[in-house]
Formats: sequence, structure tokens, C-alpha cells
Amino acid sequence: MSARDKWVTAKGAAPGTLDPIEKASRDELAALQLERLKWSLQHAYDNVPHYRAAFDAAGVQPSDLKQLSDLSRFPFTTKKELRDNYPYGMFAVPMRDIVRVHASSGTTGLPTVVGYTKNDIAMWGAVMARSLRAAGGTADDIILNSYGYGLFTGGLGAHYGGEELGATVVPMGGGNTEKQVQLIREFKPTMIMATPSYMLTIADELQAQGVDPASTSLRIGVFGAEPWTNEMRREIETRLGIDAIDIYGLSEVVGPGVACECIETKDGPHIWEDHFYPEIIDPVTGEVLPDGTPGELVFTSLTKEALPIVRYRTRDLTVLLPGTARTMRRIGKITGRSDDMLIIRGVNVFPTQIEEIILRHESLCGHYQLQISRPHHMDELTVLAEVRADLSDVLNESQRAAIATNIRHEIKSGIGVSADVYVVETGRIERTQVGKAKRVIDKRPKS
Ligand code: DLL
Repeated sequence: MSARDKWVTAKGAAPGTLDPIEKASRDELAALQLERLKWSLQHAYDNVPHYRAAFDAAGVQPSDLKQLSDLSRFPFTTKKELRDNYPYGMFAVPMRDIVRVHASSGTTGLPTVVGYTKNDIAMWGAVMARSLRAAGGTADDIILNSYGYGLFTGGLGAHYGGEELGATVVPMGGGNTEKQVQLIREFKPTMIMATPSYMLTIADELQAQGVDPASTSLRIGVFGAEPWTNEMRREIETRLGIDAIDIYGLSEVVGPGVACECIETKDGPHIWEDHFYPEIIDPVTGEVLPDGTPGELVFTSLTKEALPIVRYRTRDLTVLLPGTARTMRRIGKITGRSDDMLIIRGVNVFPTQIEEIILRHESLCGHYQLQISRPHHMDELTVLAEVRADLSDVLNESQRAAIATNIRHEIKSGIGVSADVYVVETGRIERTQVGKAKRVIDKRPKS
């Protein structure tokens, strides 16, 4: 039996039945990880020119991996490498074996493209089903899937996982809050999957329609795609009378379902370590840190065929914790990022993407500011862009408003977030003492 097939998910297993590997000892898990890691590194080296060049440049070969800790000798992968090989250059299999692609935002507006073989889709479905089971879901559940469908991995990832679990999936997608509420009232879902901030918006809409949010058929919510705090968990649980479970993932590693909390402990997502090998590094030196020390989370895929990913720097800052409800390790709440990526309503946004849009308008200059707040549970983005100094007295109110409207449309269509945009007079945006602009003012409550 190959490394890939040894620990299969018990498809159709009775509700609550764990996959064998979820009950394995740390030693059994480590042995499986080592075997799979060797396969994955060799697969990447043999089939992806980037990895061959990067390993050669670092003076390491897949055969140098004798134990798990040898992974630290291998080079990191970042969004840049994915972008440099846009769109399909990091794929390790021919295009005829790719059955799906997804994409997420990149720093320059070029998205990061990820691909899946049939086996990858099955593995993803299995880890998502395992996540939903850990969250307390069973084949008897009706799941309202309010994650966005499309290039974003949330919608389809959750969808396939729900079906693999044997539950009934209602493929609602994001937005159209009135309709979400109608479906909650009429379809009587028992689980919901959404970003945590959107869940609160749905709760507001329930209230607006005269429904007590705690009186619905919902019993469990599985929330992720953006940072959220335990205070937010308490608010959601109290208002909606449900268990709120944290699910983590990122498209470069697979999508949602890299890690998920267990309902019995709710103490941080357990990483499905049989498929995704975690490390925590010092974001400045790149040195691997011992478990329990905060740093940047790094993942290496162990079983992925289409897009093997070696030491991918997630930029997410957190800590690796020992297992509790499962043997597999947990991550703490994500406390921030080591780059400038913002997550606004679950959409990844780099300030430079907005800068690009602003600077396409000749009458504007490079002084701009992004203000993010969360007045009614949902993130709100305001963009201030200064008019060029020589035009400050020339452009009238309505001309400025027209430019702002254009920018708003361009941000919405190009990046996928709604923003309030104001074209303001020269000098309006505060300059800091050292002359370095403060591009982002994030007024959202901190994790
Ligand atoms: O957000 C995948 C996902 C969908 C996860 C639905 C969970 C639920 P990306 O768009 O590639 O993929 O964004 C990944 O989102 O690096 C984190 O910064 C952030 N993130 C995801 N889940 C959590 C979470 C999806 N539970 C980026 N807590 C990641 C905090 C999260 N941040």
C-alpha cells in the first residue's frame, strides 16, 4: 500500500466515527508524515522546475530528508514564487490531470492560482468532512453554506466536505442576507458555514424580520476565512444559541479544512497533520521555533498531487499547541500577519492593489489612505485619495465625485470588495514625521 493510501477516510462511517489516523499515536503519525514528506519532496523536485532549481540552489536533495526536522534545510515558498510562475507553472502534473482551479489575491493584482487533481479534490473533501465531523456535524445535518462560491475556495470546499459527510448541503453562497434569512426560516438548516462577521449580519437581519436569532433551527456554525476572537465566539453563541467552531485554511495549501476545532474542546483548530505538515518560524530570520513559541505558520503538503507546496509561508502569526481532543497539534488564534495583507469581509486585499487602481487616475497622486472599521459587525473599507497638488483648486466637487465613483467600481470589480471612496484635497492625509505614509488605519477590534 502506498504512503498516500494507507490511512483512508472511512467514507460512509457512522456519525462521530474518527478516521483511524485521528486516533493514532504521535509516533505513528510521525512515521506516516516522514514517509509522505519524502514522497512529496521528490514529487515536487521531479515535476516542478521551480522546486528543482530552488532545491539545487539551496544545495539540498529530497534524499537528504532522513527525519522530519531535516525539512528546515529546504527553501521556503511564498506567494511570489506562485506569482512568478503564474498561472500554471507550479503544477506538478499535466493539465489534463487538473480537474479544478481556484485563485486568491496576490500583491500586484495577479492572483495566486491553485490546481487540483481528482485525488486532491477527494482528499480535500475528506479533510473538510473530517472538519465538519469534528465540529459536531453528522449525515443528519442540513448545512446552509454561506461561503462564496467561485474562485474563492470557501464555497466549493465547504460544499464538497458537507456532501462527503453525507449531510444535506444548501448551496446559498455569500450575500443576499434577506434570502439567507428566508432559507433559515424555511429550509430549517441545522448548521451554517460563513465568515464570522457575516454571521452577525445574518443575526441582525433575523432580528429585523422579527425572528429571535436564538430560536432558529441552527445548532452549529463553522466560521473562518478571517481572524476572529473568542469574544466574537461568545457573542455569536449567545445571540444565536449555537456552538461556534473555528475552521482555518488557505488556498495555497488546499482551502478551508487545513485545520478545524473540535466541538468537545473548542480550544483552537487541530491541524490535519496527516496531510499538512506545520512549522512555526521566526518571520525575520526564518529559523524554526519550538512548539509553544509564537511565530509565522509554515505548511508543507504531504499528499497533494497537482500543487505540492514546500514550506509555504502563510504570513499568519500564531503558535503551535499540543493536541487535546485529537493527537494532532492545534494552532492558537491567528493574531496577525507578517505582511501587509488585509482581510476585509473574508477577501484578501493588499494595499498595493488599491494603490494601483488609484494611480491609474491621472488627476490623483500617491497619497492615499485605507480606513477599515467594523461599525455593525461587518468590515467597512473607506478609501481616501488625494488630488494632485496642481489640480487641487481646479477639480470641482462633482468632478471629484465622478472619479471616486469610478475608483469604487474598479475596486469592486478588480478586487471584489465594496469601498466608500473620497477624493480629497491636497494635504488632507496626514504625513508622518519620518515621511513614511501611514497607508492603513485599521480600527477593527484586535484579535
Ligand atoms: O480563506 C480559506 C477558508 C475558507 C478558510 C473558508 C476557512 C473558511 P484564502 O482566501 O486563501 O483562503 O485566505 C487564507 O485567510 O492565510 C488567514 O490569514 C485567513 N484565515 C483563514 N481562516 C482563518 C481563521 C481561505 N479561522 C487566509 N482564522 C489565511 C483567522 C483565517 N484567519
